[in-house]
Amino acid sequence: MTARHILRIQDLSAKEMCSLLDLAEAMKRGDDSRAHLAGRCIGLLFNVPSTRTRVSFQVAASQLGADSYPYGVEELRLANRESIEDTIGVLNRYLDALVVRWYDMNDYGAGHRRLRAMAEQATIPVINALDDEEHPCQVLADLMTLRELYGAEVPSRRIVYAWSYSPRQKTPGVLHSSMMAAALLGHRVTVAHPPGFAPEERVTRAARDIAARTGARVDLTEDLEDAVRDCAAVYTLSWKSPTLAGQEEIQARTRLADRWRITEPLMRLAGDDAVFLDCMPTNRGEEVDADVKDGPRSRIFQQAENRLHTQKALLTQLFDGTLTGGGR
Ligand code: CP
Repeated sequence: MTARHILRIQDLSAKEMCSLLDLAEAMKRGDDSRAHLAGRCIGLLFNVPSTRTRVSFQVAASQLGADSYPYGVEELRLANRESIEDTIGVLNRYLDALVVRWYDMNDYGAGHRRLRAMAEQATIPVINALDDEEHPCQVLADLMTLRELYGAEVPSRRIVYAWSYSPRQKTPGVLHSSMMAAALLGHRVTVAHPPGFAPEERVTRAARDIAARTGARVDLTEDLEDAVRDCAAVYTLSWKSPTLAGQEEIQARTRLADRWRITEPLMRLAGDDAVFLDCMPTNRGEEVDADVKDGPRSRIFQQAENRLHTQKALLTQLFDGTLTGGGR
């Protein structure tokens, strides 16, 4: 049987995402009886640091009865010029699934290509734990959080993905996966970005093509205040510019620091019940002010917790027959 890989959010159909979220909610309530991955071995291969993704996958595996084995790339022979083909050929024989985070901020696209190369060799499921193009696991947790907040109203409630200043360059993975998930599920999203920081055109085009048949809305604007007006959630993100590079990109983002930050006056423009979302890490006073991040609208730890429940559901469905096979 072909292994099912989750490299992009659109590797899951809308129906599969909904089934996975149903299971995650049942697991969060503690009333699911399918939590049996005893004897399974989950490898975690990360070339950059992680708190939420790594720890939540380890705890998810443990709570499901599986074992997890985290590796830094420098600990494997990959760091010593062994090929991906040989590495995956070997790991196929030991592990039942491989969770991979891989990117290099100076080489856009190389991380995703590397995950694809791994998946081509793998006879076990490969799960993207963030590369330079996608972060499907984060977005599953965000979708669960939105369902908890707005229930059946999620498709009619508009979410704003707001570029915000950070000195730390981040991949556009969460943005891309969020746009594609919204398109697949018929949601309404607005991406607010400064000039030079629009999402990659290929992704916007793909999301809008899907939106045309699902009824979703994927809008882009350079006006942050206008975007936020009457929205249901403001999600801070700080992706690297797809068109600027090196020092030019860093200087451009530094000039935006004062204007592109999530503040309490900005949040007051949003709907009365609007929430603040953030996949973290973020620093108070950079992407977002402390009174927003720590304030009553903030749902950031609910999002972080939901990483655990959605990844438990994902691992369970990869092994119980729900997500097996070669994809859609
Ligand atoms: N949001 C997220 O992926 O966090 P980590 O980088 O800590 O895993």
